Amino acid sequence: MLLPNMHCSDDVNALSLVMGTEAGEMTCHSCSRSCLAALLGVFLGLEPVLGLDAPRSRPNFLLLLADDLGIGDVGCYGNSTIRTPNIDRLAEGGVRLTQHLAAEAVCTPSRAAFLTGRYPIRTGMTSGNGHRVLQWAAGAGGLPPEEITFAKILKEQGYVTGLVGKWHLGLNCHNTSDHCHHPLSHGFQHFLGLPLGMMGDCAGAEPSEKRMTLQYRLHRCSQASALAALTLVAGKLIRLFHAPRWALVFTLAVVAAVFAAAARHVGDFIVYADCFLMRNHTVTQQPLRLERVTGLMLREAESFLQRNKHGPFMLLVSFLHVHTPLVTTKDFQGRSQHGPYGDNVEEMDWMVGRILDTLDQEGLTNNTLVYFASDHGGSLESRAGHVQLGGWNGVYRGGKGMGGWEGGIRVPAIFRWPGVLPEGQVVDEPTSMMDVFPTVVLLGGGAEPTDRVIDGRNLLPLLRGETSYSDHEFLLHYCEVFLHAARWVQRDRGKVWKVHFMTPKFHPEGAGACYGRAVCPCFGDVTEHDPPLLFDLSTDPGEAHPLKPDLEPEFHAVVEKLRQEAVKQWSSLSQIYQQLGTIYNIWRPWLQPSCGEFPRYGCDLE
Ligand SMILES: *[C@@H]1O[C@H](CO)[C@@H](O)[C@H](O)[C@H]1NC(C)=O
Ligand SMILES: *[C@@H]1O[C@H](CO)[C@@H](O)[C@H](O)[C@H]1NC(C)=O
Repeated sequence: MLLPNMHCSDDVNALSLVMGTEAGEMTCHSCSRSCLAALLGVFLGLEPVLGLDAPRSRPNFLLLLADDLGIGDVGCYGNSTIRTPNIDRLAEGGVRLTQHLAAEAVCTPSRAAFLTGRYPIRTGMTSGNGHRVLQWAAGAGGLPPEEITFAKILKEQGYVTGLVGKWHLGLNCHNTSDHCHHPLSHGFQHFLGLPLGMMGDCAGAEPSEKRMTLQYRLHRCSQASALAALTLVAGKLIRLFHAPRWALVFTLAVVAAVFAAAARHVGDFIVYADCFLMRNHTVTQQPLRLERVTGLMLREAESFLQRNKHGPFMLLVSFLHVHTPLVTTKDFQGRSQHGPYGDNVEEMDWMVGRILDTLDQEGLTNNTLVYFASDHGGSLESRAGHVQLGGWNGVYRGGKGMGGWEGGIRVPAIFRWPGVLPEGQVVDEPTSMMDVFPTVVLLGGGAEPTDRVIDGRNLLPLLRGETSYSDHEFLLHYCEVFLHAARWVQRDRGKVWKVHFMTPKFHPEGAGACYGRAVCPCFGDVTEHDPPLLFDLSTDPGEAHPLKPDLEPEFHAVVEKLRQEAVKQWSSLSQIYQQLGTIYNIWRPWLQPSCGEFPRYGCDLE
């Protein structure tokens, strides 16, 4: 019997007695408990967890979340031309997941699900009318105060909790300082970052997320008002109005001019309205100084680790990388083989390295569980001319914004906890970003809430190799409130089936993305499949070969099973407000956070 990686010293003799000579040859440190547990496992016919300590209670948590990073952008996921040595080092020292899934394919809902362990349709962090994410820092929507994040539970368990970087889960409900959706109202005790998130618009760069659309609308309004004024001048509509003719013409002309001026300045306005930094409850830099934000975030993360090294702590570093406009410091510009996007990825990897080095220097590595992931797939549509500014999703079809196709939701994900999780291990089972919630809550000594549905599952047994199966039998893949796809893990046959009920229509046809738009739509310009598309992901992860209803004997059974699951989930939902619907998602002047005094808004206290 061979027991690889076993570390023990006290028990080496006892083991030799029981197991013969091989045990005597083992390289041994000290961990009698795990050796005995392994032995017990052997005798009970269980798969032993060799060489691993029982999870020490209450580790620190360092959670690293990239923005828009594709699974194909990382060295340890098979990219041979981009350099991500630090993320690769994390994978070598821990467990790399190859089927880790975001609950949605865009930022706001995916992040809400990550923090709460619940599908966005349960928390209201979605819409049914095309609003994919929170649009304004001065909107009224956001993660409802009743929702429980893992940060909130860990804080109650005595953890010091911090967030550095992007939030994008709302700010205020009624006035500029109620901060009902603010990170500090959701369990974080320290916050430095962007309430909304990085956008091309923060740099006035292409692709623009908001300016172009707003400009277009304002121009149309301006033109409509001007046209109405002219029509009146021509006297055609004069009898329809009781108001004096010239007063009306004048008013319409003024309205047209105002819209035209607004269209011209809307870009500058967005920079102030959305691209600002907050430190805890205070706006400290408005607008954001792009060239300084990377250094600022790094210093903040490092100082958090140093200040709280006596633990326990939970730090979420939510990178602004690798979202457009790809803010990259001089040191990394022009270094990669993949243009501005590759440079930005390599810089983020360097930041990961700096943070991991701090853990090492402070002697925190062995009692810190590190998690690295991306919030969803890379953006295929992000490009300026022919230069690709978004990520690469490897063999997986589709990308950011596509709720169903694998490329939108399958993300790179690594867990590392030396001594407790195996090193250099790969897990192919389907897992979800929602699983982080129960996993860290339980390890932190807390309990999962029992008054609501938690969709995530504790990952620890799978990560430690105590089980080889994911606890998820089904995972549903929504695009807003529309169910685009669903997967079924048929354990007894070792298969992962995936059914697509709806898929976006690509532009141009067959392009694999919706070029000319920010993301593919969830409804309207989509194909509804009847019968649905069925793929066997276990043999066809690239979703290239849909199975034929008449050739695949399981076809109807699988589709029916997933339909039933969808109905079951739908009926388990409670009535909630859609936080991303139009009324909560428009700019409200009275909610606009700012620093400085009229008429000179803005400040820089960082
Ligand atoms: C590596 O990543 C870059 C940047 O996204 C991408 O263009 C390239 O195709 C990837 N290469 C491989 C081999 O996956
Ligand atoms: C950290 O854990 C690893 C793996 O168990 C062990 O080899 C190493 O000596 C530990 N380091 C410290 C500083 O305790």
